[in-house]
Amino acid sequence: MSEAKRLAGEKAIDFVEDDSIVGVGTGSTVAYFIDALARIKHRIRGAVSSSEQSTERLRGHGIEVIDLNHAGPLTLYVDGADECDPHKRLIKGGGAALTREKIIAEASAKFVCIVDPSKRVDVLGRFPLPIEVIPMARSLAAREILAATGGQPVWREGVVTDNGNWVLDVHGLSIVDPVALERELNQIPGVVSVGLFARRPADVVIVGGEPPTVL
Ligand code: A5P
Repeated sequence: MSEAKRLAGEKAIDFVEDDSIVGVGTGSTVAYFIDALARIKHRIRGAVSSSEQSTERLRGHGIEVIDLNHAGPLTLYVDGADECDPHKRLIKGGGAALTREKIIAEASAKFVCIVDPSKRVDVLGRFPLPIEVIPMARSLAAREILAATGGQPVWREGVVTDNGNWVLDVHGLSIVDPVALERELNQIPGVVSVGLFARRPADVVIVGGEPPTVL
C-alpha cells in the first residue's frame, strides 16, 4: 500500500498554488506529500500543520510552519483518511490528530484527500470512529455515545492528543447518515471533536494508483 500512498501524495502537488500557505494533514500518506512538497518549497510561503508529527517532518525539510492564526484563510488543505465514502465523507483520527485536522479543513477553500484504494468504502463505520474527549469526561462521553449510537466506545489507552486529550474509538457502527451523526455526537459535553468529516467533506479525493484516480 505504501506505493499507492506515495502516488496519491505526489499527485496532490498538482493542487498547490504558487506563493500560497499550504494546510498539511497527518499520517503516512501525508508524509509522502510533505516529501514532495519539499521539492517545490521555493514556490510556497510555508505550511500550517495539523500535528507535532507533521511539523517535525516539515521543519526537517526546511519548510516554514506558520500558526493558523497568522495565516488567514487557506486555499488548500491536503490530508489522508481512514475511510472515504462515495460522497467524499470521511472517517479520520486514526493518528489522533482529528481536532487540528478538522480546524484546518474548515479554514481551507479546498480539501484534497489522499488515500490508497483500501480506504474506499460504501458506508462509513468499519474503521472504529475516533472521538477526542476531555479526559474527565471519558466515562460520561462513552456512556452517551453508546446510548446514542449502539456502538461500542473503546478508550485508546496511553494515547494523549497534541491538545492533551484522550481518544475513544467507537466500534460496530454502520453510519448511514454521517452528517446527522456528526451533529449529534458533537452535542455531548466533553466531546472535543468527532472523526467524521461529513458536514465539511473532502472536495477532491485522490486514490493512489498507476496512474492516480482523481475523484
Ligand atoms: C490522523 O489522525 C488521521 O486522520 C490520518 O489522516 C489518517 O489516519 C491517515 O492514515 P494514513 O496513515 O493511512 O495516511
